Amino acid sequence: MQSEYEIKQEMCEIGRRVYDRGMVAANDGNFSVKLNENEFLCTPTGVSKGFMTPDCICKIDGNGKILESNGNFRPSSEMKMHMRVYRERPDVKAVVHAHPPYATTFAACGISLEKPVLSEAVLTLGRVPVAGYGTPSTQEVPDAVAEYLPYYDAMLLANHGALTYGDSLLSAYHRMESVEFYARILYQVKALGEAKELTREQVEDIYEIRRKSDMPGRHPATHPEK
Ligand code: 13P
Repeated sequence: MQSEYEIKQEMCEIGRRVYDRGMVAANDGNFSVKLNENEFLCTPTGVSKGFMTPDCICKIDGNGKILESNGNFRPSSEMKMHMRVYRERPDVKAVVHAHPPYATTFAACGISLEKPVLSEAVLTLGRVPVAGYGTPSTQEVPDAVAEYLPYYDAMLLANHGALTYGDSLLSAYHRMESVEFYARILYQVKALGEAKELTREQVEDIYEIRRKSDMPGRHPATHPEK
């Protein structure tokens, strides 16, 4: 099992990846890790995620109250959104919020990621819905994402960015990479013309694989009506 310090180090490493891959600008983005039912580590507000050190990471309780923070570091302003994810999804251990440019372009246009053009995206994500707009840092954001939390492990945030989560920080981060990759391919497909979409049968075959797999998380294969 990772020590708290090792988790903080991993958060810094993920911060570097998010920043180096251009998934955020300046001080944007935030992530958190659940330690237990009432203790969470989170990134500090207003700090570039590409240059964090373990002492930047804050510890909060389930109500967002600071349990530990060094110097002037204060918890991310988006913790209400993160806490809603943990509340609605007891299986989730980590949450990642970023503004990757292709996914955020779809979010700015209010277009969900759903065209079945990549087998891997169909298997890992299925579809990626767009949650309604909420003023950043307010209760409007958790209220907007709540609708999709039981059914998806990734969503776009209208006019804002993307949100992913999973049973570890690495899986939540990888999901963010998958969302951005899918959005980028959909964008490029549009530039070249129309994609050769997978047929309903081909999608259903992939969904069947997903249903039979022990992949954790939620996926449209198990709630096709949503
Ligand atoms: P914080 O610096 O408060 O985490 O906010 C960054 C952000 O991306 C808000 O959506």
